[in-house]
Amino acid sequence: MLIRVFLGHLVVALGLLLPYPVCEATTLGAVVNVVPLEKSGGNMVRAHYTVISALPCPTFSGVCQTGEDCVVHTTSLPYTGQKPASGWCVRQWQRTIPSNYRANVNLGSNVNVFLFLWAGPSNQSNPLRLNQPPYCSLPPPLRARVNCLHHFPLTVKDLDGDTVLCRFAQADLGECLDCPQYNFLKMEEETCTLLYNGKSSAGQYSVQLMVEDFPRQTQTNKRKALSSIPLHLSLTVEEASSSCTAEPVTTGLTPTGGATIYVLPYEQINVSVTFHSDLESVSEIVVVGPPGLFRTALDTKGSLATMNLTWIRSPNNLPPLLPLCFLANTNSLQSEPRCVWLYQRQMETFPTGTELTCGKTEMHLVLPISTLKNLIVSELQLNHPSCSVTSNSTHVMASISLTGCGTKRVHSGSEMVYTNTLRSVRNTVISRQPTLIMPIACRFPGVETKGPRYAINMPSEQETFGLVKFWLEFYRPGEGPMANRTKIPKFRHLLPSSQRVRRETSVRTASRLDTLDLHVFSNTSLDRAELMVGKCMESETEDMADSLCILDQGCSAGNGTLEILTSTSTVRVFRINLSTIKTKGTMMYVECTVYLCVTTRPSQKCPDQCDRASSNQVMVDSVLTRSYTVRSGSVSLVPTTAALATTTVVPATTPTGTISTTAAPTTTASNAPAEDSNMTVGVVLAVIHVLLQGLLHH
Ligand SMILES: *[C@@H]1O[C@H](CO)[C@@H](O)[C@H](O)[C@H]1NC(C)=O
Ligand SMILES: *[C@@H]1O[C@H](CO)[C@@H](O)[C@H](O)[C@H]1NC(C)=O
Ligand SMILES: *[C@@H]1O[C@H](CO)[C@@H](O)[C@H](O)[C@H]1NC(C)=O
Ligand SMILES: *[C@@H]1O[C@H](CO)[C@@H](O)[C@H](O)[C@H]1NC(C)=O
Ligand SMILES: *[C@@H]1O[C@H](CO)[C@@H](O)[C@H](O)[C@H]1NC(C)=O
Ligand SMILES: *[C@@H]1O[C@H](CO)[C@@H](O)[C@H](O)[C@H]1NC(C)=O
Ligand SMILES: *[C@@H]1O[C@H](CO)[C@@H](O)[C@H](O)[C@H]1NC(C)=O
Ligand SMILES: *[C@@H]1O[C@H](CO)[C@@H](O)[C@H](O)[C@H]1NC(C)=O
Ligand SMILES: *[C@@H]1O[C@H](CO)[C@@H](O)[C@H](O)[C@H]1NC(C)=O
Repeated sequence: MLIRVFLGHLVVALGLLLPYPVCEATTLGAVVNVVPLEKSGGNMVRAHYTVISALPCPTFSGVCQTGEDCVVHTTSLPYTGQKPASGWCVRQWQRTIPSNYRANVNLGSNVNVFLFLWAGPSNQSNPLRLNQPPYCSLPPPLRARVNCLHHFPLTVKDLDGDTVLCRFAQADLGECLDCPQYNFLKMEEETCTLLYNGKSSAGQYSVQLMVEDFPRQTQTNKRKALSSIPLHLSLTVEEASSSCTAEPVTTGLTPTGGATIYVLPYEQINVSVTFHSDLESVSEIVVVGPPGLFRTALDTKGSLATMNLTWIRSPNNLPPLLPLCFLANTNSLQSEPRCVWLYQRQMETFPTGTELTCGKTEMHLVLPISTLKNLIVSELQLNHPSCSVTSNSTHVMASISLTGCGTKRVHSGSEMVYTNTLRSVRNTVISRQPTLIMPIACRFPGVETKGPRYAINMPSEQETFGLVKFWLEFYRPGEGPMANRTKIPKFRHLLPSSQRVRRETSVRTASRLDTLDLHVFSNTSLDRAELMVGKCMESETEDMADSLCILDQGCSAGNGTLEILTSTSTVRVFRINLSTIKTKGTMMYVECTVYLCVTTRPSQKCPDQCDRASSNQVMVDSVLTRSYTVRSGSVSLVPTTAALATTTVVPATTPTGTISTTAAPTTTASNAPAEDSNMTVGVVLAVIHVLLQGLLHH
């Protein structure tokens, strides 16, 4: 849902012009958004830092001291960009600091930024509560061209509805250490827009701003800021090589600048960003946003370039308002920066007596009516309006199917979370607002499929699976590198359950082995890549002339093959019953078709080819696979004293198609997955409701 929010009367002080050339070690942008901590009376704030630095990406060393309330947002794929110059990278962390703060912040060994902020405490008189400082978004590094005018709209927002002003930082107020002035930059009063008039030489300039909120009623000339937040930008001015008006522009479903996207707990929001560029093709769409934002690879069709962004609201300690900024670069041009807000709706605790129980197939909700004022029971609906909500005189009840009723499923860490929303929907035109929105969620720990199969991690390589190697190895049950998995195997259900499988305890003295474990390996280092095995053939001869199918689409082709579950997504193990293969001799050869699979969407996993329900899901647009054929050497079917395994390594060819995925998750401390859970039932971890009157005014 997109709700446009227009920033009210933005009045921007005319500032002095203070850019100066940036030396290598300084930053290309920084912002600190702060949330006053109630229990400190506003004397302490939780500060959320976002710093852009030149490549190589700095480490987090020096950011947190032990014992501090400080969390770094580590990610295997940080926000990065190629332009300007040699590229940049974003680092984000949060820390509790005093509300009046000035410090040289060090990031890694050579990034240093002086930050000054002043955030009260000051009270809002009506109602009496702590003032919330303004929120500022940080655009990616800005580019302009000599002799071309440029507008850089900055996006700011205040949760109290205060007036927000942007001005240049002033050295005499202690807001910056070295603030040279320049006259080719201006702040536009009404819109918090930075204007570049084209009259500078090429170079890189650092712009240090203060963003401040003011009580709305006071007169412009007499006011004193309630708080001051630093925003540092970089502007790189390049020599113009083409017309001044050919920049990429947004089109399609791209949200409006300043739009607010409301996010309920465990909701997945999707933002699609498209730029149109005639003169030069878009080389990158760059983003600076919250930790954990997934990004697809750039999809270019003619003059259009699209990137999709996805964010799931997992339990987190992030501020309620999260800025998300993006722009497009071509070789010599840049679009205007655009920023939107993700607003994590604040939830009240649920009414006393509310019960949500999670069953294997349904969630059961019981909600007492007495606690909910003005509730019209007949107006209550679940995601799917036809799903029934019943009531008696005291309670509202609903049984919500996990697979119907519009129930949504997301993966959060290793958990699977099912969500639905009970809301009151008015059919009359008069009332536009729901009076109740009650998101409900059942969280199930990842069972069996836990570990890498469900982890939301990022591919470490962009766009391709890289050069990957696949190989087959054979071991007797209980031997080899996966011995601790094959000794007491857990089997995936490839066979009808009536087919009981005996565990092999000893190798018979008979001439042939009973069973053999086929191991399929890949050396992919992509975190989220899963190894899938399609078809495996067995033959007596190396040319596979006369062959028998032992595995088809990852499923047993007969009664003779079972898959042993491992916890590693890059290894698959299959137990072959040798008495079911027709080979008469003491040797066989095996050839398998293998795949690597990566999902582009965070909430999906690769389809289990053997599970009809999941393979029927249409995921063509979001699952990336490429198939390879791997053949074994000769495999001995009789006991030998030497190692049983013969291995043939088949290096894969580099993928030719554009295999694109650059989802960009991060690991935040807040959603550490529950380790190794053997629970099979759901747990209720979140029942939240919000009475929504007035909520849309934010
Ligand atoms: C804000 O209000 C509280 C409660 O009335 C009061 O104790 C505190 O001193 C006030 N703070 C400021 C900065 O006015
Ligand atoms: C985002 O996309 C997912 C998957 O397509 C969908 O389940 C979800 O409802 C979408 N979210 C919104 C807010 O539309
Ligand atoms: C992005 O999302 C749009 C709208 O949901 C979809 O049509 C398009 O295929 C997606 N593109 C990519 C690259 O995922
Ligand atoms: C209404 O249903 C709830 C939940 O099933 C039950 O606990 C309650 O006793 C019922 N109330 C009446 C008046 O029947
Ligand atoms: C996998 O092995 C191949 C062949 O040895 C090598 O070229 C490639 O770099 C390896 N890939 C990874 C991700 O380690
Ligand atoms: C199995 O063995 C591997 C290495 O030999 C080890 O890393 C892994 O933790 C073991 N797994 C179990 C379940 O014991
Ligand atoms: C599996 O075994 C059963 C009984 O042994 C047999 O009837 C069936 O045809 C076998 N299935 C296949 C696919 O070979
Ligand atoms: C292998 O298959 C044969 C024939 O279907 C069956 O009798 C035997 O029990 C199987 N052995 C194992 C270890 O499953
Ligand atoms: C998992 O099993 C172990 C041992 O059987 C038990 O101690 C533990 O409580 C179980 N964990 C959960 C989450 O049920």
